Amino acid sequence: MMPARHFISLLDLSSDEFRSLISRATDLKNTRNPDFQPLKGQVLAMIFEKSSTRTRISFETGMSHFGGSAIFLSPRDTQLGRGEPLEDSARVISSMVDGIMLRTFSHQTVTTFAKYSSVPVINGLTELLHPCQLLADMQAYFEHQGDISGKTVTWVGDGNNMCHSYINAARVLDFKLNIACPVGYEPNKEIVDAAGSRITVYNNTELAAKNSDLIVTDVWASMGQEEEQKKREIAFKDFQVNSKLMDIANNDALFMHCLPAHRGEEVTAEVIDGAQSIVFDAAENRLHAQKALLELLLAH
Ligand code: CP
Ligand code: NVA
Repeated sequence: MMPARHFISLLDLSSDEFRSLISRATDLKNTRNPDFQPLKGQVLAMIFEKSSTRTRISFETGMSHFGGSAIFLSPRDTQLGRGEPLEDSARVISSMVDGIMLRTFSHQTVTTFAKYSSVPVINGLTELLHPCQLLADMQAYFEHQGDISGKTVTWVGDGNNMCHSYINAARVLDFKLNIACPVGYEPNKEIVDAAGSRITVYNNTELAAKNSDLIVTDVWASMGQEEEQKKREIAFKDFQVNSKLMDIANNDALFMHCLPAHRGEEVTAEVIDGAQSIVFDAAENRLHAQKALLELLLAH
């Protein structure tokens, strides 16, 4: 039997595959055909160690549109929460379902699952990466402005899982990425170094926003960092996306945020609810982009 194909990182896709996936996602969005059921009878297990609105709903709806179904599993109600080894859980669950999506704290939980799973494993967010969000964000960018190759993107804020996935997207789709983050909150050095000269890390938002075609940010404290909220509010106070920063970027620059957002912290209401913001297009695209991903990984 062929080993299963996983989606743990954007680096699991070639540039051509990423672009085809975006174009397929846009086709699926524009022409919904209820009779097209490439995953009829297939089941996706979804393991969530953390909360989710978009990821859960988009995967569950996507499976349903394609004639399959999804099972929501919380560690609280499964033996995972009582310490059953990941290796055993991955073997057992993958012997019964056709795909497994996980949202976990540790990235290693997802890579261990992938190692022991006989079916495709999809990363639905870890502390290190959030690749599914980038499929949707890139689809939204392509839909508004065309191919992102050669463009300049500015990341503002924490060097977190979303930032790492933007770095990987810059590699696969070949764009320039300026990162502005407070000292001590820079992204993982290995991930930055592997992306080479496309990436420039600043500790200042205005320098990073110059000539930018897309400004992106995320919450100051991610899931699991709630107790650092106060400390982070101080560290990140100069790292807000506001109209002044948007004015430094190119005139037709877009704004994105994976959501949920904290208006008045990492972004002002004026920007996120303004004309340059495409956050809700990107959020909707989670459904379409992941349907294209499920088709790529699960349809035979
Ligand atoms: N952007 C995102 O992944 O949202 P959820 O946490 O709601 O899934
Ligand atoms: N960086 C955020 C993204 C949420 C979708 C987190 O990990 O909580």
